[in-house]
Amino acid sequence: MSSALANGVAHAESAAEAQAADAADPLRGFAAEFHQPRNAKGERLIYLCGHSLGLQAKTVERYIAEELGDWREQAVHGHWAAGRPWISYHDRLSAPLAELVGASSTEVVAMNSLTVNLHLMMVSFFRPQAERTCILMEKSAFPSDRYAVVSQLQFHGLDPERHLIEIAPRSGEDTLQTADVIDAIERHGAKLALVLLPGIQYLSGQALDLGVLATCARRCGAVVGMDLAHAIGNLPLQLHDWNVDFAVWCSYKYLNGGPGAIGGCFVHDRHAHRLDLPRFAGWWGHDPQTRFLMGPQFEPQPGARGWQLSNPPILATAPLLASLEIFGRAGLPRLRAKSIALTGFLEREIERRLPGRAAVITPRAPEARGSQLSIRLHRAPAAAKACFERLTQAGIIGDWREPDVLRLAPCPLYNSFRDALDAAIALEHAAAT
Ligand SMILES: Cc1ncc(COP(=O)(O)O)c(C=O)c1O
Repeated sequence: MSSALANGVAHAESAAEAQAADAADPLRGFAAEFHQPRNAKGERLIYLCGHSLGLQAKTVERYIAEELGDWREQAVHGHWAAGRPWISYHDRLSAPLAELVGASSTEVVAMNSLTVNLHLMMVSFFRPQAERTCILMEKSAFPSDRYAVVSQLQFHGLDPERHLIEIAPRSGEDTLQTADVIDAIERHGAKLALVLLPGIQYLSGQALDLGVLATCARRCGAVVGMDLAHAIGNLPLQLHDWNVDFAVWCSYKYLNGGPGAIGGCFVHDRHAHRLDLPRFAGWWGHDPQTRFLMGPQFEPQPGARGWQLSNPPILATAPLLASLEIFGRAGLPRLRAKSIALTGFLEREIERRLPGRAAVITPRAPEARGSQLSIRLHRAPAAAKACFERLTQAGIIGDWREPDVLRLAPCPLYNSFRDALDAAIALEHAAAT
């Protein structure tokens, strides 16, 4: 068989497979619940960028319009009399968020943004004392996390050169080995005040073995914090059972909360009533029973809600509420099952179509990744970036992270197997030029 003919047969087989998988997909109806971005000609783009900014649910406009209506008609009375009273609006998000992260409702709160929450958590949970003064994190952490950590060390008068311990993949590797992280935690154990872990590493797409690492860090006497920006709504999580001390996340990626959406925070129940912890306080963290007595002393409400500062931005929270309602109907177990199949299919198609020309650097094992694939094209960086730009022009929306990583994430809520196949075909063409 000629290679063109063999390619044609493989292509037809893949197309048939995608069609069958889409037909059998119990979640296929959900794509129609989202606005799909289009090009200037009105053609649908294939959006594989939910790891950066999730799509807008069609119900978002109604959710926002209802709040605008209550504000217009009721003004200040809307705090108590709106269809969804604003005074307790954020509480509506707690149960669905708790479900997604494996926690009880009292352990989670929607508030602020990720980096703000990380600072608030470190104020309470990074308490350097005696020999225990160091923070351990990964070397290629998202820059905002590193800036936050370094500034917290400096705030405590600690030199980051000595008190920040960063763990990197082995030379020539792109992902961390669990054994190496365990080894680093155990080696530095007595010095560690905080171990800060990503749920999913933003560049490589690697999902860390969070339960094992949290247990290891706590056994060594360290506090465990997590950045779940790329994990929430993407992976099943068990924050309570893993005994994580705190976690923070943003909601604009897999949670589809919209640009700059309200973030979230988890504080383990064992800290729910701790009045000994220093915290930066604000009136929304005060006991709601007595908040409006306007007393001078701060009395935190128990649980994660006690870390709130301000009354939440209702118009910016409404899209997240709309999206969480969809998550509730789809269910994370079904989303995860589809995600594993969809990401595996995209990976196989890329490897089949670009042998020797591209490498997926995200781990292959489903338990070591979520929806995202990180791809390195075997070309000089400028030529690789030009491929990414051709891919974008061809209507496939992923993103590029310097110096040389293309990220594509088929999201089970709104992407199909056909989307994954079309993306792999477009990448093949973009790389052939
Ligand atoms: C892993 C990770 N951490 C932190 C951040 C910063 O988030 P924010 O700007 O909401 O504070 C991001 C943003 O994309 C991220 O991907």
